[in-house]
Amino acid sequence: MNDFEKSRGFWGSRAGFVIAAAGSAIGLGNIWKFPYITGQHGGGAFVIVYLICIVLIGIPIMLAEFTIGRKTHKNPVGAYKNIHPAGLWFLVGGMGVLAGFMILSFYSVVAGWTIAYVVRSIFMLVTQFETAADAGKYFGNFASNPFEALLFHTIFMSLCISIVIKGVRSGIEKSCDILMPTLLFILVLLVIRSLTLKGAWAGVVFYLKPEFSKLTAQGVLVALGHAFFSLSLGMGAMITYGSYLSKKENLASSALIVGALDTVIALLAGLMIFPAVFAMGLEPSAGPGLVFHVLPAVFSKMPFGNIVSIAFFTLLAIAALTSGISLLEVVVAYFIDEIRWSRKKAVLIVGSVIFILGIPSALSFGAFGEYKLFGMNFFDIVDHIASNYLLPLGGLLICVFVAWVWGPKPALEEIHIGEHKFPFAGGWVFLVKYISPVAVGIILIAKLMGK
Ligand code: PFF
Repeated sequence: MNDFEKSRGFWGSRAGFVIAAAGSAIGLGNIWKFPYITGQHGGGAFVIVYLICIVLIGIPIMLAEFTIGRKTHKNPVGAYKNIHPAGLWFLVGGMGVLAGFMILSFYSVVAGWTIAYVVRSIFMLVTQFETAADAGKYFGNFASNPFEALLFHTIFMSLCISIVIKGVRSGIEKSCDILMPTLLFILVLLVIRSLTLKGAWAGVVFYLKPEFSKLTAQGVLVALGHAFFSLSLGMGAMITYGSYLSKKENLASSALIVGALDTVIALLAGLMIFPAVFAMGLEPSAGPGLVFHVLPAVFSKMPFGNIVSIAFFTLLAIAALTSGISLLEVVVAYFIDEIRWSRKKAVLIVGSVIFILGIPSALSFGAFGEYKLFGMNFFDIVDHIASNYLLPLGGLLICVFVAWVWGPKPALEEIHIGEHKFPFAGGWVFLVKYISPVAVGIILIAKLMGK
């Protein structure tokens, strides 16, 4: 390893790496999106399909990403170039860097809302609603106010920048070491609070009772697409995090632990939300409005709802922050490795450009709301392109690269370094070679056909 590679940084410990990777995976996707898509697509039946996607497709691709990253100690573009200098494979890494740019620009807007709601909860402004409609109206007014949308987008990006600028170990690892246990602690308290409310059981039944009749082909596509987004796959975030890992660590068990943690947190998030919604006699909104429309109304009716509201939005903000820093790190690592910028320069420039790209998304619910393409505002377009196309395409190409271009043999050699046992080696190769690319190819084709 040369001096430059040493200066890129390394995780201080394997636990630090696993916690940071789990921090990337556990985000708004788990707490805001997973519960409502589960509610929409058949409860327990959807959860079963989602678990199958995580085990058969998500975790194997995560392991592929860790392996490419650790083998090369490079950002996504450099990693492809390093393993396969000929051809255009580095463009797959480039697509990941672009996806990181795009996702963080709108992710920061939603993350900003969560910070704003923490502040508003402290001042008891979001726990005074009679109905979910009142809370929804309040949210609409809030999100369309350009000053606030921009202010909190700025605050969130500044937080990401201030952590990533400190580097892998003293910035990302250290902050995740504090933030992730805090997240788990708040989540467990809120699940207990929710499940002990009178009438909570109806929510558990709604959430988890398998209703296979509600499960459609569309639901299966949603489950697979969400597995990608939730595990932060397809854009090289896990290549980047794997690139800071030392040769002695166990890649396969790390992928398993990160995948399991992400799934457990998503399931707990549903157990926090639905029992409370039912216990307070509200309708579980069938869509993205759940968190900002329905929950404030739930908190308004609940004993000590104000404290619960502060805890809940803090939880969301933490989850968003540990994911936001991983998105920023992917882009920053590219500029450090390939363009040879210093970390400080890379973080400040990249962070500012992402901030600027986020401005039209932040204004999409107000001033820019009228500008639409195919019925979508700027925020929706960026989300749609990155989450629905760039991530699955990136995931598909990662599988093809590892299984067919680089080859399973050198990949397994990397996984086996340090004499770590990997009893599922044969199964992993089979999944990455055949099952994952075909499954992801199907989602992509279905999405292109507008399904
Ligand atoms: N996994 C994050 C979530 O569930 O919210 C989102 C995400 C983070 C996607 C980082 C991709 C990524 F590289």
